[in-house]
Amino acid sequence: MAEITMPMGRHLSEHPALKYLFFGGKGGVGKTVFAAAVAIGLARQGRRTLLASTNPVHSLTSLLGQDVLGKHVPIEGVSNLWAYEIETKETIERSKVQIREKIRWFLKFADITTKADDFVESATMNPAFEESAMFENMIDLMFKNEYDVYVFDTAPTANARRLLGMSKVYALWVNKMMKSREEARTLREMLSFTKKKEADPLMEYLVSFRDRMEHARVLLTDPALTAFYFVTLAEALPIAVVMRFIQWFKDFGIPVGGVLVNMVIDRASVGPDAAEFVKNRVAMQQEHMQTIWREFDGAVRAVVPLFETEVRGVPMLQRLCDAIYAADGVKPVPGHGAGRPQEVAART
Ligand SMILES: Nc1ncnc2c1ncn2[C@@H]1O[C@H](COP(=O)(O)OP(=O)(O)OP(=O)(O)O)[C@@H](O)[C@H]1O
Ligand SMILES: [Mg+2]
Repeated sequence: MAEITMPMGRHLSEHPALKYLFFGGKGGVGKTVFAAAVAIGLARQGRRTLLASTNPVHSLTSLLGQDVLGKHVPIEGVSNLWAYEIETKETIERSKVQIREKIRWFLKFADITTKADDFVESATMNPAFEESAMFENMIDLMFKNEYDVYVFDTAPTANARRLLGMSKVYALWVNKMMKSREEARTLREMLSFTKKKEADPLMEYLVSFRDRMEHARVLLTDPALTAFYFVTLAEALPIAVVMRFIQWFKDFGIPVGGVLVNMVIDRASVGPDAAEFVKNRVAMQQEHMQTIWREFDGAVRAVVPLFETEVRGVPMLQRLCDAIYAADGVKPVPGHGAGRPQEVAART
């Protein structure tokens, strides 16, 4: 059905316990500005809100015009809103140090004389390591529980699902590791003449790690607490990305909050004298809107117009927030073919 049956504003008020909101989608579709705009909406309702970015590309600082890198900064002009851009580089360095310590301990424990550094390099020199460091940062924030609601602007890559799906994989992996650690330890104890039990920092770490991941999984798969929103354009690729994401997320039991369509050109503003490429673009978008209504039936929460400028600063974000929240279905536009309401969905 070509209409918004549950607009964002109503969806949020019907899920008052939502605490962790995520924004995903293809690169450049508007995840960061949507996360910021929705965070403003939540803060305006009086909820202490943290807008956090785990994205290694620092975009909140330039979007808000305030330096929020590595610290929680209250946002000027919006009470109850703080923003925080996680310093990825620092986290990665810290994780490397911790891993190095653990590997050293393990090599000593196992009487292996290889230098730890070789292992550390291979364990940390891959993109998954950066992602898992970011994931840990994210759940640290969640566990600290200092805010009423958290809005996460996620990385643009197709890895959001891996970030969340990882918690399950971690648990499997850690349980396996623990089993072999337990076996190694028993063997060592059997072989040693002194029967005294040694402290096992690696094992302790693995257990606490697994428990943290399990805690994260419980929070991230609770539909009362967590919702993942997908931003798309009325274009083929971003739609395909969202369709794939939604399937993956369903497989992982991660709650999907809905789909937000961005940068739709208001058809009513395009007169007969408009440039050909504008008319073509409008026609293209209208076609893709049909796919959106069909594929995301009932899950479209907003259709937001392409603004005359980029979105920057709090006043503009407020405008975007209004456009996201205020979508109350599709209004027909006079002279533009009543009965084909999906064509005017971009109106604000
Ligand atoms: N409705 C809109 N009208 C006009 N400009 C927009 C609109 N939505 C987003 N923009 C602009 O589009 C650009 C991309 O938006 P944004 O940075 O939020 O995308 P993103 O999905 O976070 O990108 P990335 O994948 O790089 O993180 C920005 O310059 C933003 O100001
Ligand atoms: Mg972004």
